[in-house]
Amino acid sequence: MTATRIDGKAFAAALRERVGSHALDFASKAGRKPGLAVVLVGEDPASQVYVGSKGKATVAAGMESFEHRLPADTSADALLALVDKLNADENIDGILVQLPLPDHLDEHSIIASISPDKDVDGFHVINAGRLSVGQSGFVPCTPLGCMMLLTDRLGDLSGLEAVVIGRSNIVGKPMAQLLLDANATVTIAHSRTKDLAAVVKRADIVVAAVGRPNMIGKDWLKPGATVIDVGINRLPPEPGKEKGKLVGDVAFDEASEVAGAITPVPGGVGPMTIAVLLRNTLVAAHRNAGLAVPEGI
Ligand code: GUN
Repeated sequence: MTATRIDGKAFAAALRERVGSHALDFASKAGRKPGLAVVLVGEDPASQVYVGSKGKATVAAGMESFEHRLPADTSADALLALVDKLNADENIDGILVQLPLPDHLDEHSIIASISPDKDVDGFHVINAGRLSVGQSGFVPCTPLGCMMLLTDRLGDLSGLEAVVIGRSNIVGKPMAQLLLDANATVTIAHSRTKDLAAVVKRADIVVAAVGRPNMIGKDWLKPGATVIDVGINRLPPEPGKEKGKLVGDVAFDEASEVAGAITPVPGGVGPMTIAVLLRNTLVAAHRNAGLAVPEGI
C-alpha cells in the first residue's frame, strides 16, 4: 500500500486565496485593511526568515503588515510599551511576538501583555482557557492547520483513536484539545511514555510533534493510519553540500508503505501555519470591527 500524500502546500494556498478575497470584502466594509503587527526581538536567523515570510504573506493576502524589529538587548519595559501601543492601535487586529525571545525577557509576561482579542497566535492564557472550556477565542496556528488537514481528509473524527506525540503549549496540548472537541479518543504521548511504539500503533490518527528526525518508522503505525508530521528537522549536510536535508519526525518513505495518508516534510504542515495566521487575523479584524466573521473560513 502506498499512502496518499496530504498536500498541505496546496491546501494552504487555497486557504490564503479565500482569506485574501474575504480581506477585500472586509476592506470595503470597514474602510481599512485587516492589520497584523509582528514583533521580532534580536537577530535569530530562523526567526528573521519566518518574520520576513509572514510580512510578505500578509501583504499578498490584502492585509496591512506592521513589522517591528528590535535589538537583542531591548528591555522588558520597552517591549511592553510597544505591545501596549499596538494593543491600543485601531488599525492593528493581530499582534504576534516572535518566539523564542532573548533569555532576559520572560515569554509568559510578554504574551500576557497582548490583548487576548489581538492574540492571533492563540498563546495567551485566556485563549488557552477558552479552547479548554469550548469558548471561541484564538487557536494556535499549527494545530489548527493540522486539524483542517485532518477533517479535510477524514471528515468526521468521532470515535477515532488519536495519538499526539509531544505536549508543548504551542502544538501538543492545543492539538489534543481540538481532537477531543472533535470527539476523537485522545492520548498525549511524550518523552516519558512507556512503550511509545505500542501506543502509536493503536492510533487511527498520529500527530507527531517531537523534533526528532525520522523517529517514527513503519513498524509503529497501524495500517491505514492518517499521519500528520509537525516535525521540521535539518539533518547534517551530506559531503559537498552546504545544507542538510529537511525531514520530519516520521520516516516518510517507509511510513508511506503502511499509512493511509501522510503529510510530507517540507510541503505538509509547514505552509499551513502562516495561512492559518492570516485566517486568524481576518477573524480578529471582523470581531474587532463588529462585523460577522465569514462562514467556513
Ligand atoms: N516561533 C516559531 N513558531 C512561532 C509561532 O507560530 N508564533 C510565534 N509567535 N513564534 C513562533
